[in-house]
Amino acid sequence: MNETFGRIFGEKETRLFFAPGRINLIGEHTDYNGGHVFPATITYGTYALAAKREDHQVNLYSMNFEEKGVISFSLDELAFDEAHDWANYPKGMIRYLQSDERKIDTGFDVLYFGNIPNGAGLSSSASIEIVTGVMLESLCNWELDRVEMVKIGQKVENEFMGVNSGIMDQFAIGKGKKGAGILLDCNTLQYEYAPLELEQEKVIIMNTNKRRELSDSKYNERRKACDLAVEQLQQELSIETLGELTEEGFETYKHLIECDTVRRRAKHAVYENRRTVKALEALKAGELDRFGELMNASHVSLREDYEVTGKELDALVEAAWQQKGVLGARMTGAGFGGCAIAIVKADQVDDFLQQVGETYEKEMGYEATFYVADIGDGARELQKDEVIV
Ligand code: GLA
Repeated sequence: MNETFGRIFGEKETRLFFAPGRINLIGEHTDYNGGHVFPATITYGTYALAAKREDHQVNLYSMNFEEKGVISFSLDELAFDEAHDWANYPKGMIRYLQSDERKIDTGFDVLYFGNIPNGAGLSSSASIEIVTGVMLESLCNWELDRVEMVKIGQKVENEFMGVNSGIMDQFAIGKGKKGAGILLDCNTLQYEYAPLELEQEKVIIMNTNKRRELSDSKYNERRKACDLAVEQLQQELSIETLGELTEEGFETYKHLIECDTVRRRAKHAVYENRRTVKALEALKAGELDRFGELMNASHVSLREDYEVTGKELDALVEAAWQQKGVLGARMTGAGFGGCAIAIVKADQVDDFLQQVGETYEKEMGYEATFYVADIGDGARELQKDEVIV
């Protein structure tokens, strides 16, 4: 990166920042329903090598989108611009972070490099947002409470990019911790770290290599269905979110939801939230088998009731379920393509990769990609020699 920076921007004094991607162990499509999620940050992520300028110019270059060249804009002109493509994420962060207490009065030259596969549902966009936030905080010499930064990242997605996503991705990336998952209550933003002490198991990320096409509009549709369910339940219940319901509560009042599809969407949100809380209990009790069963049930619910899996994710997860040494497997993230995860006994991993890889290729006609997930720390400044390319 140092060499590329020099070539693009000239030799300057730079600082290096990093924000990881995330997997979600369980608790899918529950964040915007006031439920629980249980994500963890991986060691893949986005690096930003940055130098301050003296004028108001911001110059951004990504090694992942070299064909887009240097994208430039002024600190005085921070509107969304389609032509600015990926650079709208950092631009949105600058726009919403800037305030009287948080002055951003000189521009920057920034080189980005990410090793999270794009479109894989491992939150590459949230990782660009948060690495930009951490960079601005350090270069501009103010401090921002990390949860506030996380909320600003979500605002960029919601208001700048137009995706009504919840807070899980930015929260995980901003607050992630090596060796731990974060159980987050998205209603109150209370959270706790739960050690993922997997001594004899590995978490495997399985990439369908299908990009998440049309995912934004379908995502927004799911969210609307859940809002409608809450509205109809409010005829007899005083709830604000589906996350407030137990399974029994839902079964008693589900007749208030008129349309069968909307009822199934709501059912997923309620049951998935409860499964997430139970999964943490299982983990704390050392019952990893039980944790795995809850992961499997999560996938079935996302396939049958929430309908966000698709044939690629189903093919991977169903192949994973057939293998020896698999404790649990499910899609992770928004769905509609992207990645799944599996917890696999370490001594069975080689067979697992071979069998699942072969089955997937036979069914889909192209390969899946596999990674072992190491759970690393959240967003932070790095030493210059921690650069990886
Ligand atoms: C995406 C969104 C998150 C969350 C997941 C589904 O990753 O960005 O807020 O809703 O989908 O759990």
